[in-house]
Amino acid sequence: MAKNKLRRFDEMKEMSHVFEPTIAFTKTEKWPLKGKWAAEFFKNDHPIVLELGCGKGEYTVGLARKYPEKNFIGVDIKGARMWVGAKSAQEEGLKNVVFLRTKIDFIEAFFGAGEIAEIWLTFSDPQPQKPRKRLTSAYFIQKYREILVTGGIVHLKTDSDLLFEFTEEEIKTHGYKVNHLTWDVYRDLSTFDEDTQAVLAIKTHYESLFSEKGAVIKYTQFNIH
Ligand SMILES: C[S@@+](CC[C@H](N)C(=O)[O-])C[C@H]1O[C@@H](n2cnc3c(N)ncnc32)[C@H](O)[C@@H]1O
Repeated sequence: MAKNKLRRFDEMKEMSHVFEPTIAFTKTEKWPLKGKWAAEFFKNDHPIVLELGCGKGEYTVGLARKYPEKNFIGVDIKGARMWVGAKSAQEEGLKNVVFLRTKIDFIEAFFGAGEIAEIWLTFSDPQPQKPRKRLTSAYFIQKYREILVTGGIVHLKTDSDLLFEFTEEEIKTHGYKVNHLTWDVYRDLSTFDEDTQAVLAIKTHYESLFSEKGAVIKYTQFNIH
């Protein structure tokens, strides 16, 4: 493995805001912070927002800067990418940021019923061959339903026509309540309030890559129960 990657992995082991649970916590053991993240880790009663498939965690860190009165947890399976966000949070002294390295498939092992207020899906893999693995499939939405508070919000920001079209179909099929949906978020930016405009202007690593290639960025926000 590259030296740089190993150094990042070593550094993350020392970070108290990075959790890299073993597979046992998804199978046989109970995650000690499940249902208790706010009270026992963040030491507050603030709402918790997840970024699933966070990569370098631009939304996790960007939202944490903007909303100190909320807690943010970035989830991804790739540690070297996650290090970028974890390091920024550490250097900036952000106390409302955690990174959790695990598969999203196991998400309900780490959070209790109603523990999560919002979920951000940022430039999720479109999974052209495997619709079930798309992060807005019924398979994943069922998992989100287990951990989201009633009225909790799912946000999707993506470059992918395939994923966005699929998500629109899922919304219709399952009757999720749409708060916003645009096939061109930057064209329609002025239709959002100022706060939301600032949030939507946060750019992730993948967004920058896709935008350079001329991709149009899409956004939807919906409730699943
Ligand atoms: C296309 S990248 C986007 C990363 C970041 N959100 C961005 O916009 O730059 C998708 C990310 O989702 C993560 N991912 C995809 N499926 C996952 C899963 N089932 N569990 C955990 N992470 C997953 C990948 O490791 C990758 O970092």
